[in-house]
Amino acid sequence: MRLDRFIASQRGELSRNDVKELCRKGQVTVNGVQAKRSDMQVSELNDEIAVKGVPVAYRKFVYIMLNKPRGVVCATRDGLSQTVLELIPPELRRRGLFPAGRLDKDTEGFVLITDDGELAHKMLSPKSHVPKTYFVRTEYAIAPELVNAFAEGLTIDGGETCLPAELRLSDNEFECTLVLHEGKFHQVKRMFEACGNRVVCLKRTRLGGLDLDPELPLGACLEIMHKDVEKLLAR
Ligand code: URA
Repeated sequence: MRLDRFIASQRGELSRNDVKELCRKGQVTVNGVQAKRSDMQVSELNDEIAVKGVPVAYRKFVYIMLNKPRGVVCATRDGLSQTVLELIPPELRRRGLFPAGRLDKDTEGFVLITDDGELAHKMLSPKSHVPKTYFVRTEYAIAPELVNAFAEGLTIDGGETCLPAELRLSDNEFECTLVLHEGKFHQVKRMFEACGNRVVCLKRTRLGGLDLDPELPLGACLEIMHKDVEKLLAR
């Protein structure tokens, strides 16, 4: 693969022209030797490539955990609101990234951003039943009977039946944890509305078997490392 193509594919903020300029300034090295030409051939697997001394590691796909704040939309483009992609720091940006699944504009928490279409498909497929865990705060106290009602499969507006969901009560009667195995439109809000309550705060805290990093500030991202990627699909 050409050096400029390799660097531009891994470091989305750098164009091939940028790489050419960096080579001209002697700021790109291949196996420790300054690269004179940006069109030289390199092996993305075997060569050690660095820009300004920072290694450019080859990743076929990237997986990014974002702690989405309220007011940001899960879309690749939006004329009006800020999108989740605009929160990705330059060093993690690359072509083809998209949010795998949606949270409402007023929902916070774990959004996976990736360029791995196959994994996203597996995660989102209704058949895969990958659990999604939410912290929920409601307007009225949560009736303990909801634990059984949710476990049996609630019928929500329009007659849709939900898959069995796990509701865990907390010491605070206005708060709970809810685990869903599907992702219907506005599902959590509609489930509580069907029970005469209203969601006032919603945050996704876990996708599959991977927790949102509790240290990750709202609006911040971190790259999910290889060993954790498969946890995203864990049931
Ligand atoms: N359920 C909702 O109602 N909203 C979300 O954003 C996610 C799940």
